[in-house]
Amino acid sequence: MLAAIVLLNFKDIEKTGLEIKDACNNVDEASLNNYLEKTKQVKNKKQFEKIDKELHEVAEKISKEAQRRSIEGATRLFGQLVNLCVKCHVTFCK
Ligand code: HEC
Repeated sequence: MLAAIVLLNFKDIEKTGLEIKDACNNVDEASLNNYLEKTKQVKNKKQFEKIDKELHEVAEKISKEAQRRSIEGATRLFGQLVNLCVKCHVTFCK
């Protein structure tokens, strides 16, 4: 993703945004429950889902910006995306 932005390769950004969006959609409920139980974070499930949803939305927007060939829009949103990766990992990866 970062390389795609640096090289101004809009097709790649578009594709990567969609891949992240699809990956988020594919997180299945059972695996998530399993993970949260194993790491004793079941009570924080709502928060996990909230961050996950935000990530999904930002990824979709990145694809749209890339389709419009807006490097400024895609780059700004990429910053938000990375913040969400970090936010979730800091909170949930125990
Ligand atoms: C809603 C929460 C959440 C968000 C958002 C999130 N992650 Fe994760 N990520 C996790 C959790 C939980 C794990 C640990 C999974 C495990 O231990 O099985 C993980 C693990 C990973 C790993 C290690 C995978 C492995 O096989 O060990 C990578 C790489 C990763 N995330 C990248 C990202 C990137 C890049 C983003 C942003 C585009 C992101 N994640 C956003 C929750 C999230």
